[in-house]
Amino acid sequence: MSDKKRVLSGNRPTGQLHWGNCFGALQKWHDIQSEYDCYFFIADWHALTTGYNQADQIETSVTEVLKEWLIMGLDPEKSTIFIQSLVPEHAEFHLLLSMITPLGWLERVPSFKDMQQQLKNKDINTYGFLGYPLLQTADILLYQADFVPVGEDQLAHLEFAREIVRRYQHLLTSSFLKEPLPLLSKATRVPGVDGRKMSKSFDNAIYMSDDADTIRNKLMQTITDPDRKRRNDPGNPSICNIFAYHQLYMDADSIADIESACKKGDIGCVDCKKRCIEKAISYWAPYEQKRNEYHGKENELMDIARAGSKKARMVAAQTIAQIRSDFGFGFSNAKK
Ligand code: TRP
Ligand code: SF4
Repeated sequence: MSDKKRVLSGNRPTGQLHWGNCFGALQKWHDIQSEYDCYFFIADWHALTTGYNQADQIETSVTEVLKEWLIMGLDPEKSTIFIQSLVPEHAEFHLLLSMITPLGWLERVPSFKDMQQQLKNKDINTYGFLGYPLLQTADILLYQADFVPVGEDQLAHLEFAREIVRRYQHLLTSSFLKEPLPLLSKATRVPGVDGRKMSKSFDNAIYMSDDADTIRNKLMQTITDPDRKRRNDPGNPSICNIFAYHQLYMDADSIADIESACKKGDIGCVDCKKRCIEKAISYWAPYEQKRNEYHGKENELMDIARAGSKKARMVAAQTIAQIRSDFGFGFSNAKK
């Protein structure tokens, strides 16, 4: 048994991953793999909460995400990499927890109303979507995770999970389960080419799998400081999307140089973009090569995830045994 603290995190399989997914989460996971006992999973059941009528896309999306994870260096030797639906204990745990979850708690989670507002063209007034934070709670607690790396937008979900732990302990008079803590890291701002949050649904994303020409085209279209009309007007890097991308690819000295040149009006946006393009393209080149190596090897990727899921399931089985007996179903452990 490892004495490292355990970390768990996941992504919904949304298909192609973009720079925001990469620098917002994936890189951070990559960097903590040795320090923590990490569990990373593809939340494919979660995909159904909004995409219940897109069954034909699930498998491709799962494979796509898996591929990007491995390309970026998530390492099955170090971390347990698995798929939610291959560990059915998540569903059993979710069901049991649903019995003690007040409806009001779910209705109050901010993402419930926010998402309904955002996805107006989609009916997500469903039982499954309402239960999203509870399924996420089951994901986390099933592995007794100490930490969950989360962005600000997920903090409410984590707080929800902590409240469920306390309610469980109180109602079932059990001291089992651990309250997970957020693993905070410096937020990385990755705006889309139009300045809004980078998102597939805003059509403003640059994808990890975009080739050099696509990167160039998208960066040429990226909005810089809109108040900068002439080449030697002083600029404001803090509102410039290209400057945000510089943070991803440049070293600290170059960033400082660009910042001061921009503020003095010593560098034009086109030249500045060109520097960014060059850096971004050379950053992604080796990954593109790895991506090509995985081409046509979808089965092997799945095998890696199957092996990881087997490992995850052994841990999940231990937790669920205690949960069953806390709820009075100890006898269902014995039947095996
Ligand atoms: N909600 C996360 C997303 O949108 C996915 C997720 C599901 C998750 N369960 C989780 C993240 C548990 C962290 C922990 O991608
Ligand atoms: Fe942005 Fe560079 Fe133009 Fe400044 S010079 S506004 S940092 S693109």
